[in-house]
Amino acid sequence: MQKQINIKIARPFLPLINEQKRIKFFYGGRGGGKSYAFADSLLLLGLKKKLLIACVREIQESIKDSVHRLLSDRISYYGLDEFDVKESEIVNRFNGSRFIFKGLRNQDAQKIKSLEGVDIVWIEEAQTISKKSWEILAPTIRKDGSEIWVSMNRVDENDPLWMILAANPDERTLVAKVNYDDNPFCPQELKQQALACQQKNMDDYRHIWLGEPRSQGDYKLMNASKIRQAMTPKIKECSSPLVIGLDIARFGNDASVFCFRKGRWFYKMEVYEKKDNVELANIATNMIKTWHPIRVFLDAGGVGGGVYDILRDRGFQEVVKPINFGSKAINSERYANKRAEMWDLLRQWLDEDVEIVCDERLFNELVAVNKKYDSLGRLLLEEKEEIKKKLGHSTDLADALALTFAEPVYDRGFLKLYGNGKVAIEDMFNESCQNKTGW
Ligand SMILES: Nc1ncnc2c1ncn2[C@@H]1O[C@H](COP(=O)(O)OP(=O)(O)OP(=O)(O)O)[C@@H](O)[C@H]1O
Ligand SMILES: [Mg+2]
Repeated sequence: MQKQINIKIARPFLPLINEQKRIKFFYGGRGGGKSYAFADSLLLLGLKKKLLIACVREIQESIKDSVHRLLSDRISYYGLDEFDVKESEIVNRFNGSRFIFKGLRNQDAQKIKSLEGVDIVWIEEAQTISKKSWEILAPTIRKDGSEIWVSMNRVDENDPLWMILAANPDERTLVAKVNYDDNPFCPQELKQQALACQQKNMDDYRHIWLGEPRSQGDYKLMNASKIRQAMTPKIKECSSPLVIGLDIARFGNDASVFCFRKGRWFYKMEVYEKKDNVELANIATNMIKTWHPIRVFLDAGGVGGGVYDILRDRGFQEVVKPINFGSKAINSERYANKRAEMWDLLRQWLDEDVEIVCDERLFNELVAVNKKYDSLGRLLLEEKEEIKKKLGHSTDLADALALTFAEPVYDRGFLKLYGNGKVAIEDMFNESCQNKTGW
């Protein structure tokens, strides 16, 4: 006689077992029932037919970090003695279904080959998955009919897997939001905790319990909605002097970027790939001659120093200023280094009625950066390498924009001569006048 299977899947999660989709992406806040429903659904499917199921997460130091424990608890709860719970895998001894558990960080294409026969992969805590891990995992899930199940509590506007899979889902992707108030099994205790949080701090509540990303958490430098506002066109002309920020590619796949800003208006961005120092210096020379910027602030770290040397040699030293991101800030009591200062001035500027170039990559770069404080309480930004891991590229566009805030500039209406010219541009550039309008 066939054994009665008693597993009940909560309604919001029924597509897990009933629908055919390449990607099933469930997100939401604490207590939504994601982990339980995923575990139960996989057990149910693994009873019905032979499946190879991989439960993956970004970091799995030991099996304790995985959902192995949850699955074995659910197996005991339902009395599913078909499953043999071994130390590092779970096997259905009747039909051969198998659950395996893996951490994705430190995997490479070779080591992860064992996943090629997988029918379903469950990516748990998907908010922590890096772009790199996804790029290693995705091509290995290649069996016909295989599915990728994702459970996520969003953290940032641009969590990598959110951006890749859920922000603009295709027809093979199901995206569903499930919160504690959709979970019929949500314990009373959790509901009370949610209510207490709602009364205490609405921002925390929206993030922790309603599954919304933090638009500007304690650790985010930029406010995503301010950036969106600034991306709406509103300015047609501006008489403020032109400042150009130039971020120079350090590595092969980084881009060199010129940002054009006049006062409240950042109106143009030019991106160049794979240019050597001379080519970049030529482009900069042309821009200076055509657009007469009052300043070009150039990232002089790494190879940027070489571009600066060429421009200086051509006589542009009054216009072009080399900036070192790691150097001392003008306001060194408040900022741990120049990079933090420029980015924070950009943040303050975004609070005003400004306009910036509308560009998704720029948006993602701006919201990617976390802030912290050094032992003296000065603002410090998250390391570039960390951000690069999250984004999959450097913050080239945003750095170029931030560079336009490197130092205050003033246009006092002097005649400007460029290229071996004789104008005393220091007259237009006065560090003692650091009031707001100078930036
Ligand atoms: N099928 C179920 N049977 C019994 N209880 C359940 C079931 N599904 C969920 N629950 C209860 O709801 C709680 C929250 O579920 P779960 O841990 O799966 O949520 P989650 O969406 O993964 O949230 P978190 O962000 O907290 O991990 C569980 O601790 C459990 O008490
Ligand atoms: Mg969970």
